[in-house]
Amino acid sequence: NGGGAASPMRIILANPRGFCAGVNMAIECLERALDFFGAPVYVYHEIVHNKYVVDRFKKRGTVFVESLEEVPEGSPLLYSAHGVSPQIREQARGRRLLAIDATCPLVTKVHLEAIKYAREGYTIFLIGHEGHDEVIGTMGEAPGQMILVETAEDVRKLEIGDPEKVAYLTQTTLSVDDANLVIGALRERFPQIANPPKDDICYATQNRQEAVRELASRSDLVLVLGSQNSSNSRRLAEIADSLGVPAHLIDGVSEIRPEWFDGVDGVLITAGASAPEDVVQECIDYLVRNHGATLEEAYVREENVHFPLPKSLRELLPAGQ
Ligand code: F3S
Repeated sequence: NGGGAASPMRIILANPRGFCAGVNMAIECLERALDFFGAPVYVYHEIVHNKYVVDRFKKRGTVFVESLEEVPEGSPLLYSAHGVSPQIREQARGRRLLAIDATCPLVTKVHLEAIKYAREGYTIFLIGHEGHDEVIGTMGEAPGQMILVETAEDVRKLEIGDPEKVAYLTQTTLSVDDANLVIGALRERFPQIANPPKDDICYATQNRQEAVRELASRSDLVLVLGSQNSSNSRRLAEIADSLGVPAHLIDGVSEIRPEWFDGVDGVLITAGASAPEDVVQECIDYLVRNHGATLEEAYVREENVHFPLPKSLRELLPAGQ
């Protein structure tokens, strides 16, 4: 072009973004447990799906395990925010572990719905992603009565004994739009299908998605802070992509590639529910330093959710700790 001065880059910072109430609670649980018991404290699965959070806790003497056989008898053991199946709780009791349940209450809500429908004799469809920790935990509540469906195509292939007595539940961190496609297909095949009165996709997932949907068009590029195995973070990047705005899901500033910003005026920054705020700030600093970027906060929805520490932790700690 004529070499005129380019306008400075704008950063639009999405609100809400980052830690949700469940992640805050799970992290606080683990901090309290480390303070009280000292290292090592064991955690079944990643406490939350974020590389930075997990690495920081590893440095403080947290041991993340994939099997309870790795945990010495009598040790403190946290269940991650994603929840566990009753089989794992049983195994922990068998090994006399001091179990602290950091499951997000909004995941527990889905477990309780699974138990209720199973008792009433329903076949339950769980809409979710195969292999995700939350899905494995939820499926464990109703073995033999629960079927995982990932897509509308899966729904068409279902073969069900009693199509009158079916219900569906969902993973808490799905794309609202994708889930609606599967729910639509289920309703078409099973007009009687039952579902819980309140959405299983949690408030934090919905609000972060809504913010990206509303703000993406004001930018040329979206940066989503979060780990590759974080379901809700991935969905944020997918939503931006689906709106025609390229998105990168990154754990932190070190993954940024300078060429992403060629010809880019506006960058929307958001973060998944498990991504800490300091990794967001490092990306902002990078863009300010290298591109003279200016910062604008955009508020789409206010959040005021807080979860108390679980009873299983309060009972272990002496009063006042
Ligand atoms: Fe809970 Fe939703 Fe966060 S289920 S852990 S509030 S993303």
